[in-house]
Amino acid sequence: MNASELSAAQAARTSIITGWFRNPDAWTALDKEVLPNFQTPRIWTGACGSGEEAYTAAIFAAAHGGRILATDINPTMIALAIAAKYQSKDVMIDAISARIAAPSLAQAFLFDAKTGEAKPRQEIRDLVKFGVLDLNFDAPPECDIAILANVWRHLDPDAAAHLLGQLQRRLGQQGRLVIGGSDVYPTPELAAQAIPGKFLALLSEHFAEAEHDLIWRPL
Ligand SMILES: C[S@@+](CC[C@H](N)C(=O)[O-])C[C@H]1O[C@@H](n2cnc3c(N)ncnc32)[C@H](O)[C@@H]1O
Repeated sequence: MNASELSAAQAARTSIITGWFRNPDAWTALDKEVLPNFQTPRIWTGACGSGEEAYTAAIFAAAHGGRILATDINPTMIALAIAAKYQSKDVMIDAISARIAAPSLAQAFLFDAKTGEAKPRQEIRDLVKFGVLDLNFDAPPECDIAILANVWRHLDPDAAAHLLGQLQRRLGQQGRLVIGGSDVYPTPELAAQAIPGKFLALLSEHFAEAEHDLIWRPL
C-alpha cells in the first residue's frame, strides 16, 4: 500500500459526523461580512463529507453569486453528496436549531412528504461542483474562502503545515480560512503565522462565544 492509498484507507475510517448549518453564527458572519466583499466568491470546502456543508455554503452563497468547489478524500462521500438525498427530519432539526426561517428553508429544499426525503433545489445544486481530493497530498484550488472544518486532526502533521503554507499563497488578500468546531489545529496563533496579513475565520461555536473578536479580525 503506498502513502496515498494509506491516507485514503485511514480517511475511510474517519468520523463522518456532519450536519446542516453547523455553527450558524459563523455562516451568518460569512453571509453578512465576508461574501459581500467578493463579486463572485469562490468557496472551497475541502472535507465536505456527504455534502451538507457544501450545500449549506451554496444556500448562503446563492445571493452573492458564489460558486462552491466541494472535495473530500472519500469517493463514497462524494457519491452521496452528488446524489443529494437527505432525510427531511434531519434537515428540519438542524434548521430549527440554527434558527433558519421556514420560508428560507422552503426556498432551498424540495421536501417529499411521501418518502420523507429532502433534496436541495436544482438551482442550489447547480452552484456546487464535487471532486475527490486528498488534503495530505493534493494542492488546494484557487479560492476566496477555504472551509476546512473538522478535518485537521485527521491529517498528517507535516501535510497540515504544508497545506497552511499553500493556503497563504492561494487565498487572496480578503481571503478567509474557516476551520471547524472540533479543530484544535491550526490554533489561531499558528494560522496567523502561516497566513500573515490575511484573515482567519473559525467556524466554531466555542470561539464564536468565547473570543468573538478573534473570528473576523485580521490576525
Ligand atoms: C468529521 S467529517 C467533517 C465534515 C464537514 N467538514 C463538517 O465539518 O461537517 C471529516 C471528513 O474529512 C474527510 N477527510 C479525512 N481525511 C481527509 C483527507 N486527507 N483529505 C480530504 N478529506 C479528508 C473524511 O472523509 C470526512 O468526510
